[in-house]
This record gives sequence, C-alpha cells and structure tokens, in this order.
Amino acid sequence: MLVRDARESDLPEILAIHNNAIAETTAIWDTEPADLAERQAWFDARTAAGCPILVAEIDGAVAGYASYGQFRPKSGYRFSVENSVYVADRFHRRGVARTLMTELLERARRGDVHVMIAAIETSNQVSITLHEKFGFAIVGQMPQVGQKFGRWMDLTLMQIILDDGVASQR
Ligand SMILES: CC(C)(COP(=O)(O)OP(=O)(O)OC[C@H]1O[C@@H](n2cnc3c(N)ncnc32)[C@H](O)[C@@H]1OP(=O)(O)O)[C@@H](O)C(=O)NCCC(=O)NCCS
Repeated sequence: MLVRDARESDLPEILAIHNNAIAETTAIWDTEPADLAERQAWFDARTAAGCPILVAEIDGAVAGYASYGQFRPKSGYRFSVENSVYVADRFHRRGVARTLMTELLERARRGDVHVMIAAIETSNQVSITLHEKFGFAIVGQMPQVGQKFGRWMDLTLMQIILDDGVASQR
C-alpha cells in the first residue's frame, strides 16, 4: 500500500468512492450523487487552503482517501479541522483507513493544526471505533440533526487535541 498526495487524475476514482458512500451509507449526508466538477472544486479549494488530500493506492487503484478542511469558515476556527476518510468496499478491513489516518494526523501535526474533529453518524460504530483507536474522544451528541434513508440521523462529534498548550500563544 502506497499513501501519497492525491492528483487530479485520481478524481474519477475518488468520485466513485464518494458516490458509493452517498448511495449506501450515512457517512456522507448528501442524498444526491456528486459529479466530477464538484470533486474538482473540492480538490481545488483544499489545495488552495493548503489542506492535504491523501490517497491509498493498492495495485495501481485508489483504495481510499482521507482529507481535512477547516472545521468552520470563521477565522477563529483556523486551527481546527474536520477530517474525512473513505475506503472502497472491496478494500475494507485491510488497514487502509488506519494507514490513511496515521499519515493524516502526521500532516496535521506538521501543518499547525491544533484540533481535529470527526463528525460521525451515531450508528456508524466502525468509524467511532476507528477514531477512538487514534485517541479521539466523544465530545458531543446532536440528536436528529439529519435525515436520510427515511429516518432521522444523530451526529456524534469526536475530537483530538494535537498540540496541547500551544494555541494560547498565537
Ligand atoms: C470506516 C472505514 C473508513 C474503515 O476503513 P477500513 O480500511 O476498512 O478500516 P481498517 O481496516 O483500517 O480498520 C481500522 C479499524 O477500524 C475498525 N473497523 C474497521 N472495519 C470494521 C468492521 N467492519 N467492524 C468492526 N470494526 C471495524 C477496527 O477497529 C479496525 O482496527 P483493527 O483492524 O485493529 O480491528 C470504512 O469502513 C468506510 O469507508 N466506511 C464508509 C465510510 C465511512 O464510514 N467513513 C467514515 C466517515 S466518519
């Protein structure tokens, strides 16, 4: 498995993983599929903001991707990011998410990020367990803030503080 920065040529494979998560899971709260132009705009915005987009490549295929972007758009949130990690179904349970998260946290630490947040649909125990393994703690529960597949969805907010004690000096 090779973890590297995403290239524009990866976007069709990233789009396929993204759209599968939209269609089949509660990991992404969109109800309609995205298109390549939407993923291109996301790629451009993340790149312009200096935020990493990582892909895990196995046998020349994009097995999964991970990224982060500023948590909320106001400047006071500039040291807090929200992450995302998605792995194609056929590559599940092979350590792809673990490998991507390890590198994403390393990039965040090097990139002056203070807090990383994961916003996870509450029944997604796999993702909650994954984040707990990296030291994220549950810091909030938001009942019924989303709706998909004909039911209300609750949001679990998790976070990890990456450089305790530094932010107050900025
Ligand atoms: C969550 C997801 C990214 C995990 O990807 P993955 O590459 O299969 O995960 P890994 O093989 O790296 O496993 C890492 C840890 O996650 C947990 N995990 C992963 N799949 C699991 C499963 N099916 N059941 C229970 N735990 C699981 C385990 O704790 C595992 O550690 P272990 O291998 O030591 O037991 C993947 O299932 C996915 O893409 N799901 C849909 C999108 C999603 O939910 N993304 C997160 C949005 S917040």
